[in-house]
Amino acid sequence: MPTLLAIETSCDETAAAVLKDFDGILAHEIFSQAEIHSEFGGVVPEVASRNHLVSAPVIIDRALENAGLKIRDLDAIAATTGPGLASALLVGAAAAKGLCIGAGKPFLAINHIEGHLLSPFFGCEEIPPHTAMVVSGGHTLLWDVEGFGQYRLLGRTLDDAAGEAFDKVAKLLGLGYPGGIEIDRLAKSGNSTRFDFPRGMIDSGDLDFSFSGLKTAVRIFLEKNRPPEMADLPDLCASFQAAVTDVLLAKLFKAAKQNNRRVMSLSGGVSANSSLRTRAIQRAAELGLEIHFPPAGLLTDNALMIAFSAAHHLAAGHLSSIDVEITPNFRAAALCSASS
Ligand code: KG4
Ligand code: ZN
Repeated sequence: MPTLLAIETSCDETAAAVLKDFDGILAHEIFSQAEIHSEFGGVVPEVASRNHLVSAPVIIDRALENAGLKIRDLDAIAATTGPGLASALLVGAAAAKGLCIGAGKPFLAINHIEGHLLSPFFGCEEIPPHTAMVVSGGHTLLWDVEGFGQYRLLGRTLDDAAGEAFDKVAKLLGLGYPGGIEIDRLAKSGNSTRFDFPRGMIDSGDLDFSFSGLKTAVRIFLEKNRPPEMADLPDLCASFQAAVTDVLLAKLFKAAKQNNRRVMSLSGGVSANSSLRTRAIQRAAELGLEIHFPPAGLLTDNALMIAFSAAHHLAAGHLSSIDVEITPNFRAAALCSASS
């Protein structure tokens, strides 16, 4: 039963977790820099890396302390090495490598997307065949999954990610950063059919996405109706949210059907969206399909999902070379052959 320390610093969360086997949560620490970045209206890479430098040692120490363990008690140390912000990834990867070298422990370089992708099955030794959708601030990806390590990319966004659309539209509406949660909150009291925003690529015939047209449609609407009436905000949020969720759900269910999968998963920050979840669960129930979401605390960026992915790699006999480089850009191939 191996015990792992995992470090995640790919964007604006500094996180460390200690996991025993596949399901023994010994520590789960996150420091979110969202408040620091909110004054800039988005993540500033240099500010993120500077804050990771300050917070990572504290968060790692706290994780070990909460787990009641010393570095020498660990079987391996993992870090997210990509995709993400280069200067941010470097901090967590360098910290993990330094600890590995100092204590003579094996290193595991983990793909952030794989962390999200596996998170709905947190605690499970077997990853079932399923259709997986990863919807985060940086990515909108649709995969066919045969099992751990066997992923086939079916579709991706051609421009903005779904979370990015939430954040950009929230900014246009004068809401804070990150905007998804705020739009979700306001949409609860709004009328989703009041404004007719475009469902980009919903009938494209493939499984790709495009959200930049939707963002532009909201911007043009706001230019014509400036400033938006405060009373209209809930309807605007609900109508925008309905446009995003219509497309995500149409493609998720289409992918499941095309690949004969009866199990589906939704992960990444946007999978926290209450309307997306409710509608996904409802449609899955109507069709007799299963849908899985990450447990609470594992929806947005965290180190536990990285530890869980690392535990699977370790069980499969994978270890990474200590001189493996960070890979800031998304490459589907890196995920498909994540057996460094
Ligand atoms: O997975 P994540 O923490 O980071 C990335 O890997 O990008 O996702 C962050 C994204 C942000 O764009 C944020 O606005 C969005 O997830 N998000 C939401 C909700 N909570 C977070 N979007 C819609 N509804 C939510 N409730
Ligand atoms: Zn993420």
